[in-house]
Amino acid sequence: MTDHILVERQGAIQIIRMNRPDKKNALTRAMYAKMSKALAEGDADPAIRVHVFLGVSGAFSSGNDLADFMVVATGGEGGTEVWDFLMALARAEKPMVSGVDGIAVGIGTTLNLHCDLTFATPRTMFRTPFVDLGLVPEAGSSLLAPQILGRQGAFALLGLGEAFSAERAKASGLIYAVVEENELEASVLAAAGQIAAKPPQALKIALDLMRGSREELVARIGQESEYFRERLKSDEARAALMAFMTRKRAGN
Ligand code: COA
Repeated sequence: MTDHILVERQGAIQIIRMNRPDKKNALTRAMYAKMSKALAEGDADPAIRVHVFLGVSGAFSSGNDLADFMVVATGGEGGTEVWDFLMALARAEKPMVSGVDGIAVGIGTTLNLHCDLTFATPRTMFRTPFVDLGLVPEAGSSLLAPQILGRQGAFALLGLGEAFSAERAKASGLIYAVVEENELEASVLAAAGQIAAKPPQALKIALDLMRGSREELVARIGQESEYFRERLKSDEARAALMAFMTRKRAGN
């Protein structure tokens, strides 16, 4: 079976690559579990100084696998993998850098709100259609997005579900830089290398000060998750998920 998450080390940099191109990097429970494990192992290893998230050409991530959402929507078990990953992100000890090319939907957008630097290519589109799916913002985005984008920018992203181009994302503070596709990974790795060369203890204190209260973030993720689980079983969510599944089966 293809490994949908590839974890690689380059010196002090740990690279976590989402690698499920046929599904545009839709994230399954197993993929979340592997990313959580990588974050925990990288954090515990003094040889690692920085985590990097990458996707594949044209797809950072299309968000949570909607088939997994459908399981919960129809009364099945959701597991703890998503929760564990969100906790790993919120509590990550080391700096995180992401490189985004193309599709960045749902967690494919909100993961970047936890990153300290995000690079994206000009063709990237960030989108969080939570409300359109009958759902609510997740991954702490209801707290982080207003801090980053201001109240109205956050509402445009999370409430209206507007797509943010890379250019708009840069202008609104959602990302650090826009770079061409063929420069994306080199730019991300160069930035990660720069971070890895900093005095780690000073950097850690600086990072903690800038990230602010983890407990507030964890509490917010908890609140969001409660609503999210309830909403997954709502008629609104079931109808939206069914529409996606049916669209696919009909081949439209
Ligand atoms: N969950 C499960 N499967 C997904 C998926 C998701 N989130 N996103 C894409 N896929 C699958 C498609 O079903 C399709 O599978 P198939 O080839 O077996 O039919 C494959 O990935 C390619 O997707 P496709 O829709 O053909 O690609 P596209 O480039 O036309 O569109 C998206 C890409 C991401 C815009 C579109 O697939 C989409 O809107 N996906 C849902 C995104 C979403 O709502 N995520 C949850 C956010 S909370």
